[in-house]
Amino acid sequence: MAAAEEDAVPPVGSGPAATLPRPELHPGMPGLLNEAELEALRQARERGLREIGALPDFGFGEAASPERIAAWDIDIGPDGEGLPPGSGSVERGETLYRLQCVQCHGARGEGSQFEALAGRVPGDRFPFAEDRRWRITVGSYWPYATTLFDYIRRAMPQAAPGSLPPDDVYALTAFILQLNGILEPGDVLDAESLPRIRMPARDRFVRDDRRGGPEVR
Ligand code: HEC
Repeated sequence: MAAAEEDAVPPVGSGPAATLPRPELHPGMPGLLNEAELEALRQARERGLREIGALPDFGFGEAASPERIAAWDIDIGPDGEGLPPGSGSVERGETLYRLQCVQCHGARGEGSQFEALAGRVPGDRFPFAEDRRWRITVGSYWPYATTLFDYIRRAMPQAAPGSLPPDDVYALTAFILQLNGILEPGDVLDAESLPRIRMPARDRFVRDDRRGGPEVR
């Protein structure tokens, strides 16, 4: 073997472990585990796997309770499945919007350096693929109104996602739909009425229900 090859550090995984360079110990580093300690870890792992039939007990965390799982399980279907009780009006939504949303999305949802929320394409055409000048908005692009509730509740306002109670989310959803000309002043939204709203872009999308058989090309 030539000298140059001997000096070269072998790429990780290229040879027996013993020939790989050892990690360097710097003065503050408490050291490496010795063989006995490593063996104790292996045995604990095997014991744990035997006991629970799956993963070792790492000694931290706790089992997820049904309540905590429910707190994360907040997605809402296009048919309104998952919508919580509560309601909110366009007017209340406008008040909340002025307090918590206007600085980023503009007084009429026209956007700033951040996303526009309102605006329709004349005739509700769908020119986005061929003409990049049109901005995608709730009114011009979103096929389901329930997505608006889901999105606001999970992600907005941007600095405090998840902070809005259901009544506020219904109200903000109502106001943004009114900015888009889909609801009118005085309208109120709840779990019954929200899924019934027909969005302008409703028929612009098809459900991809392929299952991976010969129909997928
Ligand atoms: C600090 C700025 C900020 C504030 C305040 C804020 N947003 Fe947003 N919002 C954003 C940004 C940035 C996005 C885009 C996020 C992305 O695409 O990942 C967004 C996206 C959205 C969208 C989706 C738009 C789309 O077409 O994709 C909605 C709806 C929305 N915000 C509603 C709200 C509502 C309602 C409030 C007030 C409760 C709010 N936002 C407050 C910055 C903000």
